[in-house]
Amino acid sequence: MTKRSSSTSWQQVGKWYNETVGEQGHYYHQALIIPKTLKLLHFAKDQPSSLLDLACGQGVLSRHLPPSVSYTGVDAAAQLITEARRYAPQASYQFIQADVTHKLPLEAHAFSHGTLILALQNIENPAAVFKNAGYHLKVGAPFVIVLNHPCFRIPRQSSWKVDEANKVQYRRIDRYMSPMQIPIQMHPGKGETSAQTWSFHHPLSAYSQWLKEAGFVIELIEEWCSDKVSEGRAAKMENRSREEFPLFMTIVARKT
Ligand SMILES: C[S@@+](CC[C@H](N)C(=O)[O-])C[C@H]1O[C@@H](n2cnc3c(N)ncnc32)[C@H](O)[C@@H]1O
Repeated sequence: MTKRSSSTSWQQVGKWYNETVGEQGHYYHQALIIPKTLKLLHFAKDQPSSLLDLACGQGVLSRHLPPSVSYTGVDAAAQLITEARRYAPQASYQFIQADVTHKLPLEAHAFSHGTLILALQNIENPAAVFKNAGYHLKVGAPFVIVLNHPCFRIPRQSSWKVDEANKVQYRRIDRYMSPMQIPIQMHPGKGETSAQTWSFHHPLSAYSQWLKEAGFVIELIEEWCSDKVSEGRAAKMENRSREEFPLFMTIVARKT
């Protein structure tokens, strides 16, 4: 097995990730993740809110918030935090370079909202990040977690297959219940020299257990499908399977 460096920060791929996300977000940020997350966060119009965005990357969510929301983003990658500060739409927004699985360099602030977007599976110790969220969110606060669907998108263990006889594209899942750590080559064409990140797989029941232990109840789970549309010979079966197998799972947990 490839040896894993101790940090799961995206510092090494920060330049590429920043260019991919840009100021407004990559395709799925803009088409699905940001609009749907904002809807779930349900910021009150008539009272101030405060958002703790864990593993914020280069802070894409901070650039889509209503002006009444105060924002604190935390990420381990120094380069992404630098970019987040450069883009910051409000001088009061706070961006902190820190590991979200360790004690955070934050006042024991009771944030009204929390997010963890597309990052849970890049963090080795999900229980620790949930504990931190539990510590820094106030009772009743929603914690919105968006992740690659843990049942259908397991790197190296899930894939599309085609049943030619029935003209059906189906999802093959080879492993699910076992926890896994999977190296991801960010630029596969570069072979061994490609920068690498890590993906950590856990079954849904593990996330539910760790949220409970951190003082959360799961209020809602949404599953978001890609809105892309195929063209050409295989379009019909591809479009059907895209509508059947969601790309993302979103958990709304509430601090008790
Ligand atoms: C796919 S990026 C998502 C970033 C951002 N939320 C977004 O949607 O663009 C995953 C992020 O998790 C961060 N990360 C991974 N492990 C971390 C840790 N232990 N503490 C803080 N950040 C971490 C990486 O540095 C990277 O920025």
